[in-house]
Amino acid sequence: MKNQKILGLIGLTAACSIGFGAIAGPADDSLVINGETEIVTKTTAPAYIDGLSEIYSGWHFREADTRVMQADDFDNPGMLGVEAAKDVWSEVDGSEGKACASCHDDPASMAGVRTQMPKFNEAKGTMYTMEMYINDCRTERMGAEAWGWDDSDMINMTALISSVSRGLPMSVAVDGPAAPFWEQGKEMYYTRYGQLELSCANCHEDNYGNYIRADHLSQGQINGFPVYRLKSADLSSIHNRFKGCIRDTRAETFKPGSPEFIALELYVASRGNGLSVEGPSVRN
Ligand code: HEC
Ligand code: HEC
Repeated sequence: MKNQKILGLIGLTAACSIGFGAIAGPADDSLVINGETEIVTKTTAPAYIDGLSEIYSGWHFREADTRVMQADDFDNPGMLGVEAAKDVWSEVDGSEGKACASCHDDPASMAGVRTQMPKFNEAKGTMYTMEMYINDCRTERMGAEAWGWDDSDMINMTALISSVSRGLPMSVAVDGPAAPFWEQGKEMYYTRYGQLELSCANCHEDNYGNYIRADHLSQGQINGFPVYRLKSADLSSIHNRFKGCIRDTRAETFKPGSPEFIALELYVASRGNGLSVEGPSVRN
């Protein structure tokens, strides 16, 4: 539904200009979760980002009632996924008779992990997202089956691991072995896709704060992932969101877990370095 609306709007207006509505800007508000975890939702942009001076969490661009839901774990529906993952965390699975808890103790031991994802995995010689680390543990250490990128078990587990980093600043590495992946992601970010010839930057850098019909455009940050989407009433992964945004430009899209999306994830994560981890967050 929502995609159709965006397409309809842009379709009508693309010939002259893109149909971006009046500027409303980010809401002037601050986020403290459960009355104790202060969340940095806006800060100075990292020096390597040319097109932005301030960076804002997507939280600032949602309606007041949606923002409030995220301030209390009892109201945040994404926390149901976190609770489900806590059970899975200590369930033995696979031929080795192990659970996540056998090696990682309490989920709290994962504090800080989310802030660095994705990161270069030295042993594997490539860029790794959190999903890839989780699946390596399942297949190589537990003798269990890999989870699909968008399986609820996987998304719930990424929500649990993100939740214990809430309040800590995103700080992905962009240099050293990460540099070529970052460059690839940056190039993608500024590439115009699809019949509408729109890049990520056209919407999330040039037009954040403006409306695309009913949608208040954010900077497309990923510090809040996985995100509980009120429209679909479930948790959504980073790559699933990328897929949806590219499809909105009427382009063929890449697959979740593809090398292209992994590079794009690194670049987009780096645009939010300094914002607090928020996942699971609540969005439209
Ligand atoms: C047999 C022990 C073992 C089990 C069981 C196990 N892991 Fe791991 N896990 C490890 C080791 C060892 C590493 C470090 C690997 C590395 O640094 O490359 C790791 C790394 C990770 C990382 C990356 C952490 C970081 O700082 O980069 C994540 C996330 C993770 N595991 C999640 C899980 C989850 C979720 C489960 C259950 C589904 C699980 N692991 C089960 C041993 C295990
Ligand atoms: C036609 C405009 C448009 C384009 C092009 C576009 N997006 Fe989006 N995107 C949206 C809209 C609308 C939303 C929902 C409102 C918001 O958060 O901005 C959104 C949301 C997002 C979110 C969720 C942010 C949050 O806080 O939950 C991310 C991440 C994102 N986009 C990334 C991208 C990336 C990466 C690209 C390029 C591959 C891209 N988008 C291209 C319109 C666009």
